[in-house]
Amino acid sequence: MNVGIDKLGFYTPAYYLDLVDLARARNEDPQKYLVGIGQAQQAVIPQSQDAVTMAANAASPILDATNRKQISLIIFGTESGVDNSKSGAIYLQNLLGLPRSARAFEIKQACYGATAGIQMAKEFVKNHPDQQALVVGTDVARYGLQTAGEVTQGSGAVAMTISANPRTLALSANSSVYSDDIMDFWRPLNRTEALVDGHYSNDIYQQFFLKTVHAYCEQYQCSLTDLQALTFHLPYTKLGLKALRTLLPEVSAAQQTQWLSEFEASRVYNRQVGNLYTGSLYLSLLSLLDQSEGLSAGAKVGLFSYGSGAQGEFFVGTVQPGFRDEQRRSRIEAALAQRTRLDVDQYEEWFTQWPTFNTANVTIDPAPDGAEFVFTGVVDNKRQYQRRPENAD
Ligand code: HMG
Repeated sequence: MNVGIDKLGFYTPAYYLDLVDLARARNEDPQKYLVGIGQAQQAVIPQSQDAVTMAANAASPILDATNRKQISLIIFGTESGVDNSKSGAIYLQNLLGLPRSARAFEIKQACYGATAGIQMAKEFVKNHPDQQALVVGTDVARYGLQTAGEVTQGSGAVAMTISANPRTLALSANSSVYSDDIMDFWRPLNRTEALVDGHYSNDIYQQFFLKTVHAYCEQYQCSLTDLQALTFHLPYTKLGLKALRTLLPEVSAAQQTQWLSEFEASRVYNRQVGNLYTGSLYLSLLSLLDQSEGLSAGAKVGLFSYGSGAQGEFFVGTVQPGFRDEQRRSRIEAALAQRTRLDVDQYEEWFTQWPTFNTANVTIDPAPDGAEFVFTGVVDNKRQYQRRPENAD
């Protein structure tokens, strides 16, 4: 029996910053951002969104009457959670009307959280093939105004249902993992912006990639020639390309061309959104599934997950016959195309206003936000969420 990703949903806020505008404001050559970093735009989160609402907005379109009843495990992967105790998964369960009998919790290991959730969900479904799991990766990537990391910010969520006989991607039984205590990126409890040793983090990422991909091939008799494409955690798309290039000398010229072409498909969405932290690898997978012209059922895709701190994991997925979903692709392309472009002054104002964690009472007007799920404020230290059925698909 195959187990893997049955359906994928994606949500990103309806506002973005064009990185040519940011480059001009920061006295940088736009080509550094567009080519050197590999990003064209970055999502900007309004006050009416957070990790919970983005997760709900990503998951809502992939739920139907059948899978809704089967979901008995809800895993909320995030490193920008909204409460130090209560998990985002409980809010999500309630907002989406999922079964009360489900086990629901939050999981954190930097950008690796969603992968930990998927692996756990895979084992769960193997033992309970009549049931499904909902796994989300949802985050707001914030480094601070005028920092080196600013160009790599972003926000959004990817939601996945994990099932037996999945329609999209069957997951390998095995994976290769590597972890070590590394201070490359972290966020102390009193801070809303991450601290990072940027160039060191790039080096560790690439080291972990080579370690895990080689270990996977050695341990599980997988040849690199078996892989039609490689997908990466993409904090910014150039880093995936740099990691991919380190592996190119190990394959033929034809395979190099193929991998590079599939990589372009796998970064179409990420280039427009920025870092999603936990959801980033899965947004890249979604981009590959939607944008690749060469992918077909049976193709094997390598997935490299990386979470600072640090944890790396390499595993393989086999593309399933139902992987193309024209409705999903049109929905994502339309959502990205219809976003409102903010100028740098507006972005800086919104950046400074968000988030509102340290307030006992605040009211937020969600009216300008067209999303189905919105954050409306805090009452007596309790966060308030709303579903607006008129905005549902
Ligand atoms: P920087 O120092 O501003 O940039 O920081 P740079 O000087 O290294 O330049 C970047 C690239 O642009 C270089 O290319 C330049 O040559 C090129 P590379 O050598 O890398 O191939 N460049 C140009 N290209 C074309 N035209 C030009 C031009 N000028 C320069 N005119 C850095 C870059 C990524 C370090 C910074 O943005 C940063 O700190 N970002 C945040 C940290 C990060 O994203 N790390 C990634 C690995 S860690 C990770 O993935 C985990 C994470 O997602 C968190 C988690 O797990 O939770 C971050």
